[in-house]
Amino acid sequence: MTSFWSWYITLLSLGTIAALVWLLLATRKGQRHDTTEETVGHSYDGIEEYDNPLPRWWFMLFIATVVFALGYLALYPGLGNWKGMLPGYEDGWTQVKEWQREVDRANEQYGPLYAKFASMPVEEVAKDPQALKMGGRLFASNCSVCHGSDAKGAYGFPT
Ligand code: HEC
Repeated sequence: MTSFWSWYITLLSLGTIAALVWLLLATRKGQRHDTTEETVGHSYDGIEEYDNPLPRWWFMLFIATVVFALGYLALYPGLGNWKGMLPGYEDGWTQVKEWQREVDRANEQYGPLYAKFASMPVEEVAKDPQALKMGGRLFASNCSVCHGSDAKGAYGFPT
């Protein structure tokens, strides 16, 4: 992406996290540390509100989410063009590239096999145990929803 959008996303993300931390600390500042029975004064339908600080574990949980977010954004791609510190995202993070990587991997793994099937006469492929197994799996994943798991068709669809 262009560096404008990269900076836009980066500053927006980090700015949001910074603002949340500020909000968390600003509302905590000047608060008493012990709990009190005193209420803030208003009463809605007889419901009153205490003015107690967040429980410590709750506060720490907020802090933990911030630490997690910053750690995640440092390790993984997410901030604009930042590629993350973990290996594996060097050539970018877009889904298209991820998809291309998987296609390349699949071609490398199955390319020779498909080339072999392609060079065989169809009758031979139909008898090849490995081809039959693969075909069965492909049919189950991609075709059986409409054509039925036994290829005898589902209601309203051809056999
Ligand atoms: C979304 C539902 C759906 C899926 C998924 C689907 N099909 Fe079909 N298929 C149909 C329909 C509907 C027809 C009939 C089309 C027509 O007659 O115009 C058809 C027709 C066919 C025909 C022609 C059958 C004939 O008697 O003329 C074959 C062969 C076929 N499909 C194979 C497959 C294979 C192989 C897959 C999986 C890779 C598959 N289909 C996935 C709905 C589906």
